[in-house]
Amino acid sequence: MNASVLIVDDDKLTRETLSRALSEEYAVYTASNGQEALDIIGKGDKIDVVLSDLEMPGLKGLDILERVNALNNSPVVILITGQATIESAVQAMKLGAYDYITKPVNLDRISLLIEKSLENKRLKEENILLRARIRENYPLVNMIGSSPEMGKIMEIIRHVSSTAATALIEGESGTGKELIANIIHYNSPRSDKPFIKVSCAAFAEGVLESEIFGHEKGAFTGAVSSKKGRFELADGGTLFLDEIGDIPLGIQVKLLRFLQEKTFERVGGNKTCQVDVRIISATNKHLERLVSEGSFREDLYYRLRVVKIDVPPLRKRKGDIDDLAGFFLNKYSQIHNRHITGISDEVMAMIRSYDWPGNVRELMNCIESFVVLARGSQVTIDDIPDYLFSQCDVRHADDHEDGVLAEMERQTIMDTMRDTGGNKVEAAKKLGIGLRTLYRKIEKFQL
Ligand SMILES: Nc1ncnc2c1ncn2[C@@H]1O[C@H](COP(=O)(O)OP(=O)(O)OP(=O)(O)O)[C@@H](O)[C@H]1O
Ligand SMILES: [Mg+2]
Repeated sequence: MNASVLIVDDDKLTRETLSRALSEEYAVYTASNGQEALDIIGKGDKIDVVLSDLEMPGLKGLDILERVNALNNSPVVILITGQATIESAVQAMKLGAYDYITKPVNLDRISLLIEKSLENKRLKEENILLRARIRENYPLVNMIGSSPEMGKIMEIIRHVSSTAATALIEGESGTGKELIANIIHYNSPRSDKPFIKVSCAAFAEGVLESEIFGHEKGAFTGAVSSKKGRFELADGGTLFLDEIGDIPLGIQVKLLRFLQEKTFERVGGNKTCQVDVRIISATNKHLERLVSEGSFREDLYYRLRVVKIDVPPLRKRKGDIDDLAGFFLNKYSQIHNRHITGISDEVMAMIRSYDWPGNVRELMNCIESFVVLARGSQVTIDDIPDYLFSQCDVRHADDHEDGVLAEMERQTIMDTMRDTGGNKVEAAKKLGIGLRTLYRKIEKFQL
């Protein structure tokens, strides 16, 4: 569908010239005054670009701009001005006009300008859509877990989201710290402003400082141009300082000053910058210990942990495992287009008893591999990777097929299975062998 352009000018000749020149490429509408233009826009025909004279009797170009700006999905406004009113046209750009063009109008230039403005509008719309999609990805409901520990965390998230308070999230690797930071931002009044992340462990000290605070041209060898830091990029939004425990003392001072005064200077610069940034930091280290060891400033620690969220490791909230497993099973079945409907009881028992040193991330990756590897519509013991067995797996290399020892082994296994009511996970534990070994033996002895 062609884009549509509305030409607004009280001069008939200009209207006609423009209309003729543009109608090959666009759906063209014309209006001889401001009111007529607003009527056309209000009628619901979608107008993409308004090309309006600045000076007209009645409503002026600026009035149209103002009314149009108030609309949802507003058209782009390009103003046409005489030499005498260039000043006002410049003013209009500050008020949101896309650009202006001077009379007499150069037809090639106006076509080019319209094309550029449409591209600009398309990018803006795309950006809005992308942001909305990101927000959809981080509703509170995406934080899975109904354990009391998780309940407490969600309660804090709910409270802290509505404020701009500085928050510190502590927890082992893979427990969901970054997810929590995202959820807080995308449920806060800043959600349509940027969420910027910087991983403090990922850079050498000098580089990290310029990543966070930016630098001026010539600040150091290689600084061929000035560069905005993440603080400036996050203006109005949230800066997520990940792995804050790794931040060098030199940068800690600068960060402390920002938290106290909201100001900083770029590296190599002397202009003081002021931004409105909410800070959320995270670490898998115990910051208080770093403070007592002297590698983290105490004053900074207190500034960062206005609100503190401690995320317990998965092994300390095993009640969340079932929910998480179900959630990831669903998610990866969809992503990999596989119809996996459940996980067998035996496998679930193993999942519950495993310690998950890599926490939710490890469980997530594990379930993804189940989904990909499952042979049937249910994940069964045969589908699961070796490492899951390893925790309690004591392998018996000297397998005996028959004789007294074999008979004793057979008898012991049968007794244990009876004692545990047929629960193989329990039986394997009691016998001190891995579940897979138990399966092998059951098969061998045809129990
Ligand atoms: N409660 C949860 N519900 C759903 N998904 C979760 C939950 N917790 C963590 N995840 C998922 O697990 C993965 C790891 O989480 P995340 O990256 O937030 O951990 P982290 O604590 O930042 O780890 P690290 O310290 O290693 O950076 C992510 O894909 C995240 O979406
Ligand atoms: Mg993380």
